[in-house]
Amino acid sequence: MTSNTTSDSVYSTNKNFDQLYPTPIRRLSYLHWTPIEIARQAAAFLAVTPGSNILDIGAGVGKFCLNAGYYFSDCTFYGIEQRSSLVKIANQVQQQLGLNNTSFIHGDFTQLDFSAFDHFYFYNPFYENLVDESLHIDNSIDHSESLYEYYAGYLYTMLNTRPAGTRLATYQSSHTRIPASYQLVKCDVDTLFSCWIKTE
Ligand SMILES: C[S@@+](CC[C@H](N)C(=O)[O-])C[C@H]1O[C@@H](n2cnc3c(N)ncnc32)[C@H](O)[C@@H]1O
Repeated sequence: MTSNTTSDSVYSTNKNFDQLYPTPIRRLSYLHWTPIEIARQAAAFLAVTPGSNILDIGAGVGKFCLNAGYYFSDCTFYGIEQRSSLVKIANQVQQQLGLNNTSFIHGDFTQLDFSAFDHFYFYNPFYENLVDESLHIDNSIDHSESLYEYYAGYLYTMLNTRPAGTRLATYQSSHTRIPASYQLVKCDVDTLFSCWIKTE
């Protein structure tokens, strides 16, 4: 684990970190972006081997990757995000922070080659499809229950095809959608932060 004293205060509280984002994005943080303490715990679990490539499925404005990359400079943190406006903001903040081990990809996660990544993180990315419009990040994309089912099913299959030893960290996500080939090794019932390792 490493740290850079010039940036330490940015990473010290959610309020400080969220100041890096434009006001409308900052207002969404409590509901849609990973808290810094969860990002740090998830990264500590996932960055177990130097040189690992770790993917955030549904990266938003990059809050997980940008915190993880700061603490674990020997791993690379990728984020795939379907909204181009959020990718643009993630890239701007990455530049501002001077991180060189994070990378943001604009697109749908179903178009990615999962074999390029060793370990995975997600914060309930498809849930937006099941909730009222007032809880959406924005209305630039379609939302539907059938999209939720499609994405959850696709991710289940992808995770199930990864090799034994693959690590997965989930936040605020349903355990029923994780393949049985993943063993739950840690679960905080208050925050629903969970850690999994593929056993077979
Ligand atoms: C709850 S936010 C989490 C953001 C980020 N992982 C974090 O924790 O700060 C979920 C994000 O997933 C994105 N998302 C949902 N479905 C997606 C898909 N099929 N492909 C790529 N991104 C997706 C949404 O646009 C949203 O920005």
